[in-house]
Amino acid sequence: MTRGAGALDLVGRHVVVSAGGTREYLDPVRFLGNRSSGLQGYALARSAAARGAHVTLVAANVTLPDPAGVTVVRVETTSELREAMLAAAGEADAVVMAAAPADFRPTSTSEAKIKKAADGSAPAVHLEQNPDILAELSRERRRAKQVVVGFAAETGDETGSVLELGRAKLARKGCDLLVVNDVSGGAVFGAADNAVVILSTDGEATEVARASKSDVSHAIWDQVARRFVM
Ligand code: CTP
Ligand code: CA
Repeated sequence: MTRGAGALDLVGRHVVVSAGGTREYLDPVRFLGNRSSGLQGYALARSAAARGAHVTLVAANVTLPDPAGVTVVRVETTSELREAMLAAAGEADAVVMAAAPADFRPTSTSEAKIKKAADGSAPAVHLEQNPDILAELSRERRRAKQVVVGFAAETGDETGSVLELGRAKLARKGCDLLVVNDVSGGAVFGAADNAVVILSTDGEATEVARASKSDVSHAIWDQVARRFVM
């Protein structure tokens, strides 16, 4: 079967992709967030649509234009992202968590803007962990034979190499595929290209040499499409 750009192997499939980075508000004007641009998630949505899929894109704080022919749902916080993903996953053949959810949120959000204290002191910020959406989607499988895909940006450390950490994360999350990004050489945020390894639960590791985020997306859909016919 033809794969990659130009294939129409996702016709009749519904896929849900998350993109961007969530924000957790301290008050009406301030938030904790991250530098995810949404480029990889948007490229995934565009390439799936090009291969014939019906695509829902859940976008967290992304400023890119809506991809043509894709249903876009906008969210801001990790809780909103979770709600939107769980709702959309009910109809989905594949779910891809390309978004970067904030891992923590303030335990409370002030309704009024936090003012500076006259004595020069700074307020303490108390955080709690956000729910793990990918783990929940993987555990619940909202639809039979659904393929669940996660992303991981790793640097490797004293506990393991990038791939070892990726394997451990794949097992911990319970997803079918994990797209691992080696970010030790510097940030990839906002970059036009990317180099990844796609780990699968059957022990395979598919290397995608530095390529455009569109080409990386097609390599990911190749792996998802293979699982559809397995
Ligand atoms: N993810 C998620 N919900 C969260 C955090 C992460 O669904 N609250 C998803 C991301 O979208 C990504 C995958 O989990 O697909 C891995 O994200 P990552 O930040 O690498 O994993 P964490 O479990 O947050 O671990 P770490 O401590 O390394 O940040
Ligand atoms: Ca994280």
